[in-house]
Amino acid sequence: STLGASAAERGGRYFGAAIAAGRLGDSTYVNILNREFNQITAENEMKWDATEPQRGNFTYTNANRIVNHATAQGMKIRGHALLWHSQMPGWAQSLSGSDLRNAMINHVTQVATNYRGKIHSWDVVNEAFADGGSGGRRDSILQRTGNDWIEAAFRAARNADPGAKLCYNDYNTDGINAKSTGIYNMVRDFKSRGVPIDCVGFQSHLGTSVSSDYQANLQRFADLGVDVQITELDVAQGSNQANVYATVTRACLNVARCTGITVWGIRDSDSWRTGENPLLFDSSGNKKAAYTSVLNAL
Ligand code: XIL
Repeated sequence: STLGASAAERGGRYFGAAIAAGRLGDSTYVNILNREFNQITAENEMKWDATEPQRGNFTYTNANRIVNHATAQGMKIRGHALLWHSQMPGWAQSLSGSDLRNAMINHVTQVATNYRGKIHSWDVVNEAFADGGSGGRRDSILQRTGNDWIEAAFRAARNADPGAKLCYNDYNTDGINAKSTGIYNMVRDFKSRGVPIDCVGFQSHLGTSVSSDYQANLQRFADLGVDVQITELDVAQGSNQANVYATVTRACLNVARCTGITVWGIRDSDSWRTGENPLLFDSSGNKKAAYTSVLNAL
């Protein structure tokens, strides 16, 4: 079997990968992609700097290469990401206040409208919470437009593409901790006030171990009435790599509202974590022990 087919047999879940448009001409890469995965996320091509490099000038060429490939293969597409403090275009980085707020909301509206009907789920807001013990928001120019920027973004996204699931996505949320609890409180507040939010993504860029309350953390979010997904999984190389992958896979399967898992790249040589070999296929495209471990867990 394959990762995607096995996940589909487990309650209609997906198993996906982050994809780079520039690698779609690499036959080893594309063969693995088409064989194993039934969901894709654009690794960089849908970010703000890629889609609106000049104010009001939208470019979708590279993003569309990924969207067209996924559509032709019947793969679900996670849009990543409408708003993020990183990989913002220079023109937006120089804005503030209501000018930045208007530019943010226009960006959400334009991009979500452009892809209306094609995106299964959008990461509407990425990485808006602070690391460490505060449980509060990350300081950023987006945050300085006012604490309501996240809900304004979700409302704009819902208006632009009512059929897409709207997600909040973050890292260092791989257990019950101050940061994940801050996000949990935001989601609870959004649900209670009718702010449109459907899902929470747990990036899961992991080291050599995983928190023992990883599954319990997914479950507490699911209990708020949102779906959860593992969105950017990669695991540091080491003797425990296959075990950590299996633990994360089982945690998702054990949570009814955990609808899918995405790994952040295909081969180790495709990974942003250079030299860490954190993925399921080696640099030649061979299946690693971690691959077998995930497939057996599915
Ligand atoms: C990373 C990409 O993998 C790199 O190619 C790029 O240089 C930086 O961004 N969290 C996210 C992803 O939400 O968008 C990031 O992707 C990894 C961390």
